[in-house]
Amino acid sequence: MRLAIIGAGHVGLVTAAVFAELGHEVRVMDSVPERVSGDGAWFHEDGLDTLLERNKERLFYTTDPAEAIADAEVVFACVGTPPLGDGRPNLVYLEQVAWMVAEHANHDVLLVEKSTVPARTGERLQQILDYEADGSLYVSVASNPEFLREGTAVYDTLSPDRIVYGTRNTRDRDTLRRVYEPMLKLHDCPVIETDVASSEMIKHASNAFLATKISFINAVAAICEEVGADVNVVADGMGHDPRIGRQFLNAGIGYGGSCFPKDVDAFAHLAREVGQPFHILDETRDVNSRQWKRAVHKLKQELWHLEGKTITLLGFAFKPGTDDVRESPAAYIAQSLVDEGASVRVFDPIALDQIRNEVRQADPFFSLTEALDGADAAVVCTDWDVIAGLAPHDFIEWMRQPVVIDGRNVYSPDHMRRHGVRYHSFGR
Ligand code: UDX
Ligand code: UDX
Repeated sequence: MRLAIIGAGHVGLVTAAVFAELGHEVRVMDSVPERVSGDGAWFHEDGLDTLLERNKERLFYTTDPAEAIADAEVVFACVGTPPLGDGRPNLVYLEQVAWMVAEHANHDVLLVEKSTVPARTGERLQQILDYEADGSLYVSVASNPEFLREGTAVYDTLSPDRIVYGTRNTRDRDTLRRVYEPMLKLHDCPVIETDVASSEMIKHASNAFLATKISFINAVAAICEEVGADVNVVADGMGHDPRIGRQFLNAGIGYGGSCFPKDVDAFAHLAREVGQPFHILDETRDVNSRQWKRAVHKLKQELWHLEGKTITLLGFAFKPGTDDVRESPAAYIAQSLVDEGASVRVFDPIALDQIRNEVRQADPFFSLTEALDGADAAVVCTDWDVIAGLAPHDFIEWMRQPVVIDGRNVYSPDHMRRHGVRYHSFGR
């Protein structure tokens, strides 16, 4: 099939590569020319460059919406939906995609929302198409959310645990069946075929639930610290119940990224808008924003004043396997330490370029040894293997004071403390 992807970002480019791998011809459009140069991905994602290279004959890149959309049977909207600041996501870019489709489609076309959107966005897009597109064409809107995690995005997209699409009628459903037919031959998984609003809700509810799971364990961790329990053991004990499951019960400085913070707020906003306030989500967000502050509090308890102290952040990306620093708890910690007058160093194996954009006063370090040399404290912000692999003697040898705040619970408290590290983690 001939497909178009609008927005060559973390979701769009991965989706394009995977559709090409399935044998479709894919036109990828982005408004930023460097992102559609055809020279591989503009961000770090394991396996993506290989997949793009292997399928280059079926991938065509452009900044011109007309070139991307004109002959496409299905157009996937993968533009960002960044937060507006009041809880709502900015849907302007998505609206622009609908305008582009209306203007450039020259035969029947299905516009599919991949971007995470509040329920009923599909209705809005359909209105634009109904009014603006050439009346002789069939133009329709569907929802087909992705569930990929950055860092494992290629694997997640090629081997999804479910495929969800919501359509307005059987014609559109059959179109999406044809898109995914080759994938189901390679990888069998449940397919949920539903209406557009339910599909939009599945994505929002899934992200909100996962974020709530993380905040739940972080709230449990705070109580564990007071009563002398170990949150990891508690999470293991809970996780053996298959109704609960162990995944996403890792306590620490909380969740970041382009999805959970924004989607929790957007879902809470939608709930209020429809008169069904969802207070659990307000608490999910509040617990999460307390987590990075707890790391700073632990630092102050050890160092007393932060002014004039040198503090090293170990990791800056919002999770390992990516150079994405959007809403990373590390950025909040770094800014707060700078505001307190500390000198902040940051080590990250791949996200270094982004550090100065986020926190101008922080110093990026390419070497772990140099980042820790003479520091008064270290804060683990991202659970990269190279950071989790540090031993007590590394901190003791390199640092001025071996104070370690482990924001991802990657080290054994007993082991660290036995060897002289002034060690604090979350809920242990
Ligand atoms: C995606 C989803 O689309 C978002 O809704 C979800 O919540 C998170 O994942 P993501 O792929 O991470 O967003 O965003 P980003 O990596 O910023 O990619 C968006 C791309 O769209 C960018 O390359 C941007 O240049 C492009 N874009 C945006 C356009 O081409 N045109 C526009 O008008 C706006
Ligand atoms: C998430 C969803 O997992 C994915 O299905 C959806 O499509 C997009 O949003 P992503 O944001 O890429 O994916 O990463 P994820 O692995 O979910 O981690 C999100 C954040 O939660 C990270 O900052 C991570 O460190 C944090 N996290 C995760 C925890 O703090 N504890 C956990 O137990 C798990």
